Amino acid sequence: MSDLDELEKQALAELNSSSDETGLRAWHSKYFGKHGAIPAAVKKVSEVPPAERRAYGQEANRIKEGLIKAYEERQQKQSETQLARELQSDALDVTLPGRPIRRGRLHVATQDMRRITAIFADMGFQVYRSREVEDDLTNFELLNMPPHHPARDMWDTFHTTTGGVLLRTHTSPGQIHVMRECCPKPIRVILPAITTRSEIMFQQVEGLAVGRNVSMTDLKGTITAFARRMFGNDRRVRIRSSYFPFTEPSIEVDMDCLVCAGKGCSLCKGTGWLEIMGAGMVHPVVLKNGGYDPSRFSGFAFGMGVQRISMLLYGIDDIRYFWANDLRFLNQF
Ligand code: PHE
Repeated sequence: MSDLDELEKQALAELNSSSDETGLRAWHSKYFGKHGAIPAAVKKVSEVPPAERRAYGQEANRIKEGLIKAYEERQQKQSETQLARELQSDALDVTLPGRPIRRGRLHVATQDMRRITAIFADMGFQVYRSREVEDDLTNFELLNMPPHHPARDMWDTFHTTTGGVLLRTHTSPGQIHVMRECCPKPIRVILPAITTRSEIMFQQVEGLAVGRNVSMTDLKGTITAFARRMFGNDRRVRIRSSYFPFTEPSIEVDMDCLVCAGKGCSLCKGTGWLEIMGAGMVHPVVLKNGGYDPSRFSGFAFGMGVQRISMLLYGIDDIRYFWANDLRFLNQF
């Protein structure tokens, strides 16, 4: 009997000092395993003199039940402290704001190009894609500028090392391609594209309408409708006489200043007007080069700089911002 008490004391002491899962498991197999101390002690009942057997058996069972209970409690406590420890070390604050996903967007040049094309699409203009690499013939000659024509100086041309091959300096050579493709059908197209001068690239949108009795009034009406949809319904438009070799007569189109509405400010340099595009009636020589008989057909054409339009819309003061890839600039659109 005293062996039993000794066993109980020892088992409890060891149980209480086991501090982790491995310790607990080792304790369990030492006392309750196949060759464990408790089953051994219970078995010993057969060696006990008959008179004491009953008391011994009862005591052994009491100790066994007690130890099982103590073990289970210990195990429970153990897993609770283990959980608490894990929660503490892997602390996760679900109330913290998440990491925002950075969303991309269309470049301001693309956005405005799309707005411009959409406005003309509503007026029945189809989009025509022309070529970026042109020849001297189409970029200049067929547009009524023979090789030594001084008007060529209006475009700082980016020539390639292959003779007569250049990057288009404006979208106007596209007029020739469209006319030759469509002749003798009437034409109503816009040509949106990148254009290159020796020091800068920028986008233009060219417009071309060819048909019977196409007049300057049609040109003015088309441009006014465009300006009002792009810049607001109260916009006024005026035309000034100008010169381009491929239009006759040639005009430049101004719109009343967005900032001062005509009073005069630094944006419009005191004039009250902002230039938005060059335009005119397609020159008979150009019509002929496109395959159309100028005595039966007439047409108007215009060309505007897309970045210039954006600069007016948002008050941007330097065209280089568009291609500098500075997110502080781009994120504003
Ligand atoms: N191509 C001219 C330019 O780049 C613009 C223009 C287009 C003028 C069509 C008249 C007609 O300046």
